[in-house]
Amino acid sequence: MRSHYCGGINESHIDQEVTLCGWVHRRRDHGGVIFLDLRDRDGISQVVVDPDTAESFALAEKVRSEYVVKITGLVRRRPAGTENSNMATGQVEMLGKKVTILNAAATPPFPLDEHVDVGEDVRLRYRFIDLRRPEMLNRLRFRSRVTSYIRNYLDSNGFMDVETPILTRATPEGARDYLVPSRTQEGSFFALPQSPQLFKQMLMVSGVDRYYQIAKCFRDEDLRADRQPEFTQVDIEASFINEEDLMSLNEDMIRALFKDVMNVELPAFPRMPYSEALDRFGSDKPDLRIPLELQDVGDLVAGVDFKVFAGPANDAKGRVAALRVPKGGDLSRKQIDEYTKFVSIYGARGLAYIKVNDLAKGVEGLQSPIVKFLGSDVAMAIIERTKAEDGDIVFFGADKTSVVNEALGALRIRVGHDLKMLTCDWAPMWVIDFPMFEELPDGGLTAIHHPFTAPSCSAEELAASPATALSRAYDMVLNGTELGGGSIRIHSDQMQQEVFRILGIGEEESRAKFGFLLDALKYGCPPHGGLAFGLDRLIMLMTGSSSIRDVIAFPKTQSATCLMTQAPGEVDEKQLRELHIRLRKPVKAVDGNTSDIGKE
Ligand code: AMO
Ligand code: AMP
Repeated sequence: MRSHYCGGINESHIDQEVTLCGWVHRRRDHGGVIFLDLRDRDGISQVVVDPDTAESFALAEKVRSEYVVKITGLVRRRPAGTENSNMATGQVEMLGKKVTILNAAATPPFPLDEHVDVGEDVRLRYRFIDLRRPEMLNRLRFRSRVTSYIRNYLDSNGFMDVETPILTRATPEGARDYLVPSRTQEGSFFALPQSPQLFKQMLMVSGVDRYYQIAKCFRDEDLRADRQPEFTQVDIEASFINEEDLMSLNEDMIRALFKDVMNVELPAFPRMPYSEALDRFGSDKPDLRIPLELQDVGDLVAGVDFKVFAGPANDAKGRVAALRVPKGGDLSRKQIDEYTKFVSIYGARGLAYIKVNDLAKGVEGLQSPIVKFLGSDVAMAIIERTKAEDGDIVFFGADKTSVVNEALGALRIRVGHDLKMLTCDWAPMWVIDFPMFEELPDGGLTAIHHPFTAPSCSAEELAASPATALSRAYDMVLNGTELGGGSIRIHSDQMQQEVFRILGIGEEESRAKFGFLLDALKYGCPPHGGLAFGLDRLIMLMTGSSSIRDVIAFPKTQSATCLMTQAPGEVDEKQLRELHIRLRKPVKAVDGNTSDIGKE
């Protein structure tokens, strides 16, 4: 139908006849001549239609924004002074000879030829139009380049692309499952996979040796800017391999990817134990672009009368930490109040601070609401520990360790951005030496990664001290975002059963849920391990987008709905009956009370 893409014509086509197809981006009537900006996925070309070609001129007069047209004409140089160096096609234009209207278009819900702020709900409702915008199309194109690069990389490193089921059983990755009722097995449900974890482990037992899949995963969890209920992993698993091999393979791949598609040379990936990441940055995914660190001062304040500090300092589960912000002394009262409000989101009950005005004056040179409670010796000891200098501010968090880490960890990032302290564009790293388990509020234990992660110790040592055992897991972190995570897996059934036991999953339950895994581990399971990257997050970071919704063609809203298709939707009674389902819908009864249909 066409000879070129709209974005593809340039000076080399001058005097040639070309045929372009696309959407009318803009139409301008210039006293007798009509200018049409014609757009397709590759760009925009300017087409001029003059009254000499009467029939085409009449059609050009009729077209409106977003009409779909085909135009044949001659490429010519734009008259001197009318070139547009901002456009790839800006040196040339097409003299349109034959205009064909392929389809009319209703007035679009938002204009595409100018930048207007459109609510995201309107964009999602009309996603098919939103995606016509070059920045959206370019992100999709970029995503396609990245997946294609990754596939090639893994293919040429001996990895095999294997598809795994979507209708399956629950795979525990810590979120709620999406369930699909079975028609043929009354009362039974499939779960959509939270990840292909167990299938890829089965493939290792089968001898596939090196597997990958660009896999859809489903997790019914609270959504944020970097979480979707349905997202994509680059899922990888390999046999006869240790963490060193796995980390270097994946690091090499990400480095090569950045070089190839963005010409970015990533720096070395430092490796940091989980405990160090929390101590220094208050986070297990530290943003190393920001040169601020937390420091413990609990020992210095354990003896003060100020209960806010002394309490957590004397509590094994508490922490008192300082965050020194060089040159932060200029922060206004109002800004500090705003930060106080900000940390309260993370449960902090206040945000104490000391401003260092003039150290030469000793404690008199400090400005703070808490120095009077701490006493000058303690205050000066804190200044010495944090190496604070004139013009700095030191913030404090005192609470349960998790609250202090989350609050000061988030403040560190917020202040780092506000004061424009970023030291580089890209800061990748590995977080290693995760604990196997973390404690639940009820005192029980839950797996920090998933229950198939191998511990770094023997089964006996694990049983003796599960709360302190470390795992062979690793996370790749980029600019404060967890890009991917993985581990060496358990390949012995005794070890797997021990982990289930510690997690409170009894023998009967483990057989019922994971019998196939326990069997597979008995029939010659090789040592193996792997990792999964969050593809959407990777693309979000690479394209500088602020949400993964912007790099997914058809994302869901914060409340996990699709505004375009109106999914999820109701289904009819017959379908429900076939699925053996009766709804418990609250309905208004005649007396005005609500009752449940189907209530027994
Ligand atoms: P994990 O649960 O850490 O590990 O997931 C791997 C990566 O997937 C991305 N991710 C998400 N992205 C968007 N929306 C979500 N809701 C979401 N949840 C996770 C993150 C994360 O790092 N089977 C293991 C991997 C393994 O052990 O090999 C797993 O799924 O970037
Ligand atoms: P108060 O005695 O509660 O007025 O607190 C004195 C100062 O300590 C104020 O600047 C509070 O913001 C701060 N503060 C109170 N609780 C905490 C806490 N848990 N962590 C850090 N600072 C706090």
